[in-house]
Amino acid sequence: MKYFIVTYGCQMNVHESEKIAGILEKMGYECGESREEADIIVFNTCAIREGAEDRVFGNVGALKKQKKRNKDLIIVVCGCMTQKEKTAKYLLTTFPFVDIVLGTFNITKLEEYIHKVKNGRQLELWAEGNIDETLPYKRTSGENAWVNIMQGCNNFCTYCIVPYVRGREKSRQEEAILNEVRKIVAEKKYKKITLLGQNVNSYGKDLEPQVSFSQLLKDICAIEGDFEVGFMTSHPKDLTDDLIDTIASQPKIEKNIHLPAQSGDNRILKLMNRKYTREHYLSIIKKIKDKIPNARITSDFIVGFPTETEEEFERTLSLVNEVRYDSIFAFMYSPREGTVASTMEGQISDKVKHERVNKLIALEKKIQKEDNKS
Ligand code: SAH
Ligand code: SF4
Ligand code: F3S
Repeated sequence: MKYFIVTYGCQMNVHESEKIAGILEKMGYECGESREEADIIVFNTCAIREGAEDRVFGNVGALKKQKKRNKDLIIVVCGCMTQKEKTAKYLLTTFPFVDIVLGTFNITKLEEYIHKVKNGRQLELWAEGNIDETLPYKRTSGENAWVNIMQGCNNFCTYCIVPYVRGREKSRQEEAILNEVRKIVAEKKYKKITLLGQNVNSYGKDLEPQVSFSQLLKDICAIEGDFEVGFMTSHPKDLTDDLIDTIASQPKIEKNIHLPAQSGDNRILKLMNRKYTREHYLSIIKKIKDKIPNARITSDFIVGFPTETEEEFERTLSLVNEVRYDSIFAFMYSPREGTVASTMEGQISDKVKHERVNKLIALEKKIQKEDNKS
């Protein structure tokens, strides 16, 4: 029996697919080479932008024929899209050949659901559940081992669906993380450990007693062995001097800092609920450059946020010019149902969003060429 997993979205999802693979292998399935030869196909989905969701609908729809040929094929759709009740229901009614629809909190139930579906039922489960630390992972990212340090997000940036599909911030116990890292290091197969969270700088604020992200990093670096530690993603509002000092002083910490700015304009940053200003953001960048001269700094930007004027967009260009990032991701704003920004007046046309994203990408390419960065 073979499985095939299709993963969309961020590193969190990539890592969660490793958990899904672990569950399936424990059940006796083997990793298949393609969808065609699989007995079970899992789509681990992303809801961050409309384009990501459309790709899932297209790919799930395309399985209709395969399911007709092979009645025993099990099709599972899980991840961030299916954590939205409306989307979960839509998937089940539009694609009646889908067998299981699971939300992000319910991966733990996958085995139980596969057994149930073998008795011929279509199943949906999207409500809140618990994260099960005992589930096995099948690590698939070569020399890098992902380690999740927290779930969810409390920030509610007005454009973003993540807090709705991943719930509130919940940090793992420090000892559980350290034990996982010790095990990974002892295996001697991995050169790098990447800590994952939507906003890693808020790690530990919800723990009793509190543990800071800097402390966690120091405790991980104290583990004996030859490895590098990276992390993503940092939110500028929580990037403390203490954390910059820790990154600068610990040789095991990778000097890559992904610090999404989203916009270079203060009015738009406020509308986005990002809780920092352009000036504050630039002051953090300056500190990083001063204390970690070899830092590789990257960012995300959204263009065409509701009401963004040409002048305000140009302030994003000027921020990129000022920081001279090593690389950036530029996204066209995509309205997500249920978020504050999706109902704001002054939505920007696709044409303008395309023009702005192209300008931003062109600027980044020019900077990379000038600075000779790859
Ligand atoms: N937690 C991370 C980001 C997760 S989403 C952080 O706060 O930085 C990754 C990126 O997708 C975001 O940085 C943002 O640039 C982009 N993004 C999120 N919602 C979006 C939307 N509705 N439309 C376009 N881009 C979006
Ligand atoms: Fe989304 Fe903002 Fe949370 Fe990042 S910090 S996941 S952009 S709400
Ligand atoms: Fe997408 Fe969910 Fe990650 S919405 S970006 S897969 S947290």
